[in-house]
Formats: sequence, C-alpha cells, structure tokens
Amino acid sequence: MIRLLVAGGTADERSLVANMLLPQSDIDVVLADAASTLSTARESNPQVVVINADPSGTDVAVTIDSLTTSLPTVAVILLSVHTGLNEVRSAMRAGARDVLSNPPNADELLASIRSAFELGAQRRASFSQTLDSKAEQPRTAGKIICVYSPKGGVGKSTMAVNLSIALRSLTNGLVCLVDGNLPFGDIGIMMNLVAKKTIADLIPTVNDLSPEVLDSVLVGHESGVRVLLAPTRPEFAELIQGDHIKKILEALRSQNDYVVVDTWTSFHEVVLAVFDMSQEILLITTLDMPAVKNIRTFLEVAEALRYPKDQITLVLNRADSTGGLRIPDIEESIQHKFGANLVSAGALVTSSINRGRPFLMSDPDAPISKNVMELARRVLQPADRETLGQTETPAVDPKRRTVFGRILSAR
Ligand SMILES: Nc1ncnc2c1ncn2[C@@H]1O[C@H](COP(=O)(O)OP(=O)(O)OP(=O)(O)O)[C@@H](O)[C@H]1O
Ligand SMILES: [Mg+2]
Repeated sequence: MIRLLVAGGTADERSLVANMLLPQSDIDVVLADAASTLSTARESNPQVVVINADPSGTDVAVTIDSLTTSLPTVAVILLSVHTGLNEVRSAMRAGARDVLSNPPNADELLASIRSAFELGAQRRASFSQTLDSKAEQPRTAGKIICVYSPKGGVGKSTMAVNLSIALRSLTNGLVCLVDGNLPFGDIGIMMNLVAKKTIADLIPTVNDLSPEVLDSVLVGHESGVRVLLAPTRPEFAELIQGDHIKKILEALRSQNDYVVVDTWTSFHEVVLAVFDMSQEILLITTLDMPAVKNIRTFLEVAEALRYPKDQITLVLNRADSTGGLRIPDIEESIQHKFGANLVSAGALVTSSINRGRPFLMSDPDAPISKNVMELARRVLQPADRETLGQTETPAVDPKRRTVFGRILSAR
C-alpha cells in the first residue's frame, strides 16, 4: 500500500488529484491544506507527498524542506502552474523528487508517484540499515579540520591534500578530504582523480545522506583518503548553500575519523558554514605584508565573534622566505603565535601538483613532508594522540557551533 498525502493548493486542486487516483486500490490518499501539511504528514507518515504550489504565494520550497527534514525518507512531487526554471531549481534544492504541471496529466502523475515510491523504498531500506549499523557500532564523531586563508594562492589546497594523506598514514583511520573550493576546486587535478560524481550530486538527497549515498559520490585515492570533489562547473557551485554544507559535513563526520575541508578565500555563506562546523581552523599565511594584514583582520573578526582562539592554528607557509619580516614581530602585531611551519619547496611542490602526485607520497622524507606530518600530529583526535603516545591536549567540544553563523543570521 502506498501512503500518499495530497497537500497544499485549493480544496478543488486537492480533490482533482484524489479523484484521479481513486481507481488505484493500492494508493491510500490523505488530504491536507497548506496550513496543516506538516502536522498531517507527521500523523499519517506518508511515503509520497504530492504538494500543490500555494496560490497565496507561500514559498513551497520551505514546506518541502521541512517535510524532507522531518520525514527523511519521504518523496515529494511538486505540482506547479508556473514550472519556471527558478521554481524547479528551488523545489529540487529543497528536496523535491519531481515537478509536474498543475493540473497534472493522470498517467504522468501516477508514473511519478510509483517511481517516487520505488526510489523511496530503496532509501527506506538503506536508511533503516544505516540506523541498524549505527546502533551496532557506535563511533566517535570525526574531527572536521578546515584549511583557510584570508589571502588567495598561499597554499591551502597543497596543505589540505598533503595533510589528509598524513592523517591517513599516521592513524590508518577513515579520512575524507572535501574540496570546499566550490567555484574553482582543483583537488581533483592535484590528486589526479576523475570527477565521476561531485558534491553537487549530493544536493538532491542532502536530507538523507546515508553511508551508501556518500560512498557513491566519494572518490578513492591510492593513499586511502576518500575525496569529495568540487562541482565541475562554477554555476553548479551556485546551487550549494551553507545549510547543504552543514548537512554534508555532519554526515561525513559521522562516517569518518577526520574530515579535512579545503576552502576558498571569501566570507561566502558556504565558507562560514564550514567554519561553524569545524573543530579546528588552519589559517595559512605567507610572510608578506598583504597576507599578514588580512590575517590580522580575520583574527579580529574571529575574536569579535568569540570564535575560540585555541581552535585556530596559524600555519606559516614558505617559512624560510621571510622577505625581511621577523616572525616574533609579526606574532606580536597579530597577537597570535604560529603553530606550525612549512618550508618552501618550489620544484617539489610544483612538480607534485603538475603530476597529480602529492609530495607526501612521492617524497616522504623531504623537509616539507616532515613539516606536514608534524602538523598532522598536532591536529590528531585525543584517542589517536593516545595510541600514538603523544601528550594529551584538551578535547574540543564538537557541539560548539554557529559562532560564524551569527554573521549569517545577522545579514
Ligand atoms: N611550501 C611551498 N613551497 C613552494 N611552493 C608552494 C608552497 N606552498 C604552495 N606553493 C605553491 O603556491 C601555489 C598556490 O598553492 P595552492 O594552490 O595550494 O594555494 P591556494 O591557497 O589553495 O590557492 P587558491 O586560493 O587559488 O585556492 C602553487 O603553485 C603551489 O605550487
Ligand atoms: Mg586552492
């Protein structure tokens, strides 16, 4: 039996759909107006919802989002008089499976309901499996480490790639690298990976990210690190919002020991969402005045927002190219100590990027590789620190949240 909720729109629109489905003895129809859509959905627990765009102009995407959030395995079909591109995009982003014109063609509607039900059945099976397997093996949540710099081109991606490999080789744990440079991600090139699927493929199922769904999108690297690649085109990146990133990172965190996120230099809501989710921010800089000025500004913003200072590790890249600036003077000026250094290694870094083979693998004994290993040891989870015989540092509360989010909500 398919439990179907026909929601929203006018009473006539709802009865029209219900009448179309009358001959289908295996479809059990419940009706609800726009105001009672969510409460009726919670009571009747439908597998499929056919929702009419509300004539009063209420944003139907908001209702779809609430439906898919409170009933993670439900499949939503939107009926809309104006099936313009923008409306379709926002409905899909909110989690709709299909969009049909209103009034619908009876055959199309039935085919859409049946296919949504079938797809939902697979998702329900994997969802309950996920719950079962989670119940069997409770795992500690992974640590999200974000790599950021307030000036572009200073080595974020180089650092993110090699740090993930270092974490994997040190702990043999599950390490996921997220190319969070959504508009211009280059991790795929740096690691010589082919983007069969990217983060954009997770958006339609962002409210139901089972391990199977994540596995189907992550690309394995020979180091054992699994990579979530950036969209192949900048316009796909525009579809991804801060809330999507939060849900994706939360899901990845529950399935991995470490999630390293590369970013891009911006205060875009996606980057702020990454900050909010991270237990550690690696702030990369080089020793030149523009970079230092931007670091100072960033640290001031972070302090104003009460982002814990001990969760920001300042990393000096090309530490041996100081251009006449003295490290203690810079530390004094920005009121923050450098926590790690990376030496310059022009030829090695460039050739490793061009060949798509990270230097930590091709040249593990190079000074820069040793620097990255040192940094990896610094950001270990307490349990790994203990296993590897290192001194304990205070655990970071993974529940600490939304300091940067305040910027968003203040907008
Ligand atoms: N320690 C280093 N020694 C020598 N070259 C380096 C070092 N770190 C980074 N580079 C070089 O600097 C350039 C920029 O590095 P990378 O792409 O990692 O920076 P990014 O901060 O991710 O840039 P973007 O802001 O464009 O994403 C690359 O060409 C890389 O080869
Ligand atoms: Mg980069």
